[in-house]
Amino acid sequence: MKRIVILISGGGSNMAAIVRAAEGEDWPRRLGVGIAAVLSNRPQAGGLATAQAHGIATQVLDHRDFATREAFDDALARAIDAYAPDLVVLAGFMRILGAAFVARYAGRLLNIHPSLLPAFPGLHTHERALAAGCRFAGATVHQVTSEVDVGTILEQAVVPVLPGDTPEQLAARVLTQEHLIYPRAVRSFFGAESGL
Ligand code: GAR
Repeated sequence: MKRIVILISGGGSNMAAIVRAAEGEDWPRRLGVGIAAVLSNRPQAGGLATAQAHGIATQVLDHRDFATREAFDDALARAIDAYAPDLVVLAGFMRILGAAFVARYAGRLLNIHPSLLPAFPGLHTHERALAAGCRFAGATVHQVTSEVDVGTILEQAVVPVLPGDTPEQLAARVLTQEHLIYPRAVRSFFGAESGL
């Protein structure tokens, strides 16, 4: 069985979308893929309870317990490696990971970002898209490299920006698409078609 480890920091709705797809489409039997664990850098992350409700192992590594970014990255890598994952999925994981961490998981580390990369890497993507007068926004699943929000694009989805949109309204519209493209990217990573 191939194994996925998912990293979250918050509500974990993207993680939940992947879990739902894995359960609904029976990835363990049909793809030989299972979700081994969900790890969070925030003890309060709402997604932890969701993962537990689905019988998935969870673990918290609070970044505030570590003196340096490198020390946190090392501890996180050790926690991840205990599950020997074939794929590590960043799903709303809001810590920048160092070059050594990224190199360790090269080719098996995915991220989702709430913009149409290469536009608007970094934070506050929806505010920036609105301020720029964009008519379209969206989300991107990409391979992670040591440059933040840069890496081979695997999936994208586009949504319209509607007149009077607030950042929250735009974020919610983009998020519904994230929940479609992230499971699709994970399926594809393991060689499966969308119509599984
Ligand atoms: C999602 O919109 C995701 O794209 C974004 O955080 C949100 C997490 O939601 N990620 C980033 O901004 C990464 N830089 P979720 O916890 O409900 O999946």
